Amino acid sequence: MTALLEARRLEVHYGDFQAVFGVDFHVDEGETVAIIGANGAGKSSFLKALAGLVRTRADGILLDGKPVGGKPAYEMVKSGIALVPEGRRLFPSMSVADNLKMGENGKSGERGWSYETICDLFPILRERAEQLAPTLSGGQQQMVAIGRALITNPRVLLCDEISLGLSPAAIKDVYAAIGEIKRRGTTIVIVEQDLNAALSAADRIYCFLEGKVSLVGRPDDFDRSEILAAYFGS
Ligand SMILES: Nc1ncnc2c1ncn2[C@@H]1O[C@H](COP(=O)(O)OP(=O)(O)O)[C@@H](O)[C@H]1O
Ligand SMILES: [Mg+2]
Repeated sequence: MTALLEARRLEVHYGDFQAVFGVDFHVDEGETVAIIGANGAGKSSFLKALAGLVRTRADGILLDGKPVGGKPAYEMVKSGIALVPEGRRLFPSMSVADNLKMGENGKSGERGWSYETICDLFPILRERAEQLAPTLSGGQQQMVAIGRALITNPRVLLCDEISLGLSPAAIKDVYAAIGEIKRRGTTIVIVEQDLNAALSAADRIYCFLEGKVSLVGRPDDFDRSEILAAYFGS
């Protein structure tokens, strides 16, 4: 079976500095995969490479088995790869509704994500539609960031640290939505430092350590100490 999205021996370089070393990775259609790892492990660099935001070799990334590495971000979005960036990156001078609609690209797609269905998923956003994005709580802003990516009707939703800085209650809400997005058939890759959130949401996990994969498998394949060793490298 061909993976929906795959990385082969993927490397990310920033000038002379190498952040990601020969990572092999795949996510199958309908799967939710979590990438865990400490600060600086290369998780965001890897996700940015998948989204076309940092350059890679053409054959380093395959979509439906076809090389797509090195394509610019807007082409990756057209091909069905959408990123929820670390830190949300909302447009601060725009309303919630306008932030969401920024992502609209006229693709309705089989998942049928639209402004209305995203507001059904996050009803609070409909209530706050005309407010400026920075007036929302952290959790609500994260919902906008997820909605803005979903509205492109992606085949793969890439989420970078969606629980960062949120209260436990907000993390619960955001992950409930991730569960619903998965149930509707979207393939999901989440980068997550919160181990519990990652292990409960994911079908499979990859742990990154210093730019390399230090562990891969199903959450149940490992006990806590193995995961912590792969996470901290001890
Ligand atoms: N734009 C950049 N230029 C140079 N180095 C970078 C850049 N972005 C990240 N790095 C470096 O790459 C390494 C991995 O960072 P990152 O991918 O952000 O890790 P993580 O998301 O796991 O915290 C870190 O050492 C970081 O300082
Ligand atoms: Mg990061």
